[in-house]
Amino acid sequence: MKDSSKGIGGESSPKGPAKVRKVTTRSLVEMKRRGERITALTAYDHPTAQLLDEAGVDVILAGDSAAMVVQGLDTTVTVTMEEMLYHSKLVARGAERALVVGDLPFMSYQVNRDEALRNSGRMVKEAGVEAVKLEGGEKLCATIARIVDAGIPVMGHLGLTPQSIHRFGTYQVRARSKEEADEVRRDALALADAGVFGIVLEKVPAELATEVAQSVKVPVIGIGAGPGCDGQILVSHDMLGIYTKFKPRFVRRYAELGNQMLNAFSNYVQDVRSGDFPSEDESY
Ligand code: KIV
Repeated sequence: MKDSSKGIGGESSPKGPAKVRKVTTRSLVEMKRRGERITALTAYDHPTAQLLDEAGVDVILAGDSAAMVVQGLDTTVTVTMEEMLYHSKLVARGAERALVVGDLPFMSYQVNRDEALRNSGRMVKEAGVEAVKLEGGEKLCATIARIVDAGIPVMGHLGLTPQSIHRFGTYQVRARSKEEADEVRRDALALADAGVFGIVLEKVPAELATEVAQSVKVPVIGIGAGPGCDGQILVSHDMLGIYTKFKPRFVRRYAELGNQMLNAFSNYVQDVRSGDFPSEDESY
């Protein structure tokens, strides 16, 4: 696993082990300025977070997609604050270099600003994340400013906002109309003004996403938003082929782990049933 004698890029120093340089909200903004693409993926547990960190992923999101890909639910709306604290804590423990962002679940930040701040504080103090993410635009700016003012970095989320599924009724591409596209443009500027360090932009036309990324100083991390964003994020279980209920067009499968796991489990069942496992070597 991790080789602590090596720094980023694997260099070891004659003076001893190079320290891993932590990704911060500030370094992400600098990456955008230098034109370096930001990599982000979701995780829900410790071993996955460790692997993502080792692979050099810049941002690990303990996403509320846990509701769908881990808990087997149809939407993200019912995942609770306690459950997100649990997942976020496991993830935060696994990451040394990556910035860890904890997703604030539906209704943990909408009721009022005090509650939003209290729940953001719990994410940082109890789960150990370095930033929180919430969904929504202009209307949430006062809430965001309050959280940021308390010293907690906030990431926004615009375009397709899965927590509002019952309002929209579909997971289709957003902001195809001029009105909706203008709203996304306005929301992105408002979020940046309110102090977010980055914005996730989900499932909007690539041209609009490029324009939005060029209009704000903070990184825009796309998911189904084309190549013109400052970085990309995917749900790990989608790109690994573990979550197979549906596959949006924007997902690239980097592995078919679901199939591999199924094969491994089936082989085990067969080996136990046939008496092939455990062998003499696997016994004491
Ligand atoms: O919860 C999540 O996984 C997310 C990503 C889709 C960005 O918010």
